[in-house]
Amino acid sequence: MDRALELAAQGVRGANPLVGAVVLSPEGQVLGSGYHRGAGTPHAEVAALADARSRGADPAGGTMVVTLEPCNHQGRTGPCSAAIHAAGIRRVVFAAPDRTAQAAGGARWLRDRGVETDGGLRQTQSEHLNGRWLRATAQARPFVTLKTASSLDGRVAAADGTSQWITGSQARADGHAIRARVDAVLAGTGTVLADNPRLTARPVPTDDAGTAGSTPPAQPLRAVMGLRPVPQDAAVRGPGFLPLATRDVPTALAELHSRGVRHVLVEGGPGIAGAFLAAGAVDELVSYIAPVVLGEGTPMFPPVGVPTLAAAHRWVPDPAGGGAVTQLGPDVRLRLRPADDDNGTPADRTAADRTAADRTATAAGTATGTPATPSTPQHNQE
Ligand SMILES: NC(=O)c1ccc[n+]([C@@H]2O[C@H](COP(=O)([O-])OP(=O)(O)OC[C@H]3O[C@@H](n4cnc5c(N)ncnc54)[C@H](OP(=O)(O)O)[C@@H]3O)[C@@H](O)[C@H]2O)c1
Repeated sequence: MDRALELAAQGVRGANPLVGAVVLSPEGQVLGSGYHRGAGTPHAEVAALADARSRGADPAGGTMVVTLEPCNHQGRTGPCSAAIHAAGIRRVVFAAPDRTAQAAGGARWLRDRGVETDGGLRQTQSEHLNGRWLRATAQARPFVTLKTASSLDGRVAAADGTSQWITGSQARADGHAIRARVDAVLAGTGTVLADNPRLTARPVPTDDAGTAGSTPPAQPLRAVMGLRPVPQDAAVRGPGFLPLATRDVPTALAELHSRGVRHVLVEGGPGIAGAFLAAGAVDELVSYIAPVVLGEGTPMFPPVGVPTLAAAHRWVPDPAGGGAVTQLGPDVRLRLRPADDDNGTPADRTAADRTAADRTATAAGTATGTPATPSTPQHNQE
């Protein structure tokens, strides 16, 4: 399960929880492993079965170790319960139970078909890994990634208002890659009036020859938040444009959720960034920092209610999705998560962190206990 948790943390955060899986032979040898790489891609269990088969191994009779109870529903991919059963897996050991309205019940479905199932092994670690995702789904709102692109001194625009471009092409291409996998991109009316952005996901040339990648298959919704009207000739208008005539963050998020948005990328200027931060609604912060000093200009955040250092909004490096610190050409990308969520990642975990349920399960060779969770998520991996 420790290996499965490490694998889970390689996935990207967003609409779905991070999930990892390992397939063991009846003798306990690792036959294959995998993790969920984001919405629309194979679930961890299916990826692990495919990995085993690609190595010439037959998973039949083996054990599936997975960080979340296998889903039991047809979403963008098929039910994992059925895939596990069809593969002839004899036993499933999972960490956290699936409490989603759509996908729960996989363990029971498998038990009814003679597959042994044990839940609760490293449940605490699995739920902490997905703490902010669980919180967002419990609040029936999308998972929120806030993106900023700033100078070394934290400016998002120069004194004359120019902001395109502070960061280089590799950072911008990375930002477009995030746009391509979210359900919606959101900016404030201030950014729309200042920059007239399209907010679409586009390939960005990242080499001297101007070679661009392929255009993403699906475009996110383009939401603009604020009370001022969006000009009729604004580039953001067109199919997929969603005006959110409010300054209230929960109202905006509820509207997005009602339209099926499960992951929103907030790309506004300081007004919107500060509003989401103050509302406690930022689950992930992706910050591109360019080696540029502006000295004056628009700061990344407005005042956000921090009169003293002890009250600061603190963040911690998030290794999920390929690393907390990444160099992109001349720029650096920081991937951060709220410090109040800083416990129980696989890297942090030691033997002493094991829960009582873990110890019981490890000693008995089974997993027990499903303590109450603060959430009722809406779905498993999509
Ligand atoms: N480098 C970057 O990453 C980056 C990204 C985006 C923008 N920018 C720069 O940021 C500057 C624009 O800053 P901005 O702050 O005006 O843009 P913004 O944050 O996109 O928009 C601010 C506007 O959003 C509306 N709004 C809705 N809810 C709000 C709330 N709860 N709190 C505050 N405002 C709310 C308000 O307009 P209403 O009066 O209409 O309600 C407000 O004036 C431009 O210079 C742009 O180039 C830089």
